[in-house]
Amino acid sequence: MSRALMLGALALTAAFSLAACDGLKGPGDNAGAPSADAAGGPPPLPPYQMRAQIDETNRLKPSSDGEALFSNHCGACHLAGGMGTNLITGQQVAAGQSPDKGLLANRDDLTADYVKAVVRSGKGAMPRQTRVDITDAELDKVAAWLGKGQ
Ligand code: HEC
Repeated sequence: MSRALMLGALALTAAFSLAACDGLKGPGDNAGAPSADAAGGPPPLPPYQMRAQIDETNRLKPSSDGEALFSNHCGACHLAGGMGTNLITGQQVAAGQSPDKGLLANRDDLTADYVKAVVRSGKGAMPRQTRVDITDAELDKVAAWLGKGQ
């Protein structure tokens, strides 16, 4: 292969890999997370590794909103690609729901009380979260944000 052809093939490969990285952006992306698009930097991390930054000045009176607190405290498992999302997607599909219901943020059947009970007691593969993991005040905000059910 000539040198020019080789360079062309390399450029094409690079273009395709960049296009593939763009595929990571989509619904389920994490509001408030820092952007990983710096020129020449590494490819963006998967959403579950891109948890939102929160203000932790006073965790008993959190100033961040429920969505950001959820992303930060629950996102490692419950954002797109997380193991909680993967498990719940299977459960939801088996129950006749659409796969996007694997993301807790897309559920409209969860109540705030149910969310708090699961978080404090654990459920199946989910370990219970202590008040060090997430304070009562933080959990109140997360549960209010997730609890769209009656
Ligand atoms: C270490 C990973 C992990 C963390 C952290 C985590 N979860 Fe979970 N969560 C799971 C898994 C896995 C399941 C599915 C459990 C099962 O059914 O076996 C689950 C299930 C749930 C459910 C039940 C959903 C249903 O359909 O019944 C709720 C509600 C929930 N999590 C809320 C939260 C909230 C809110 C947080 C943050 C405070 C959180 N979780 C943090 C892993 C996690």
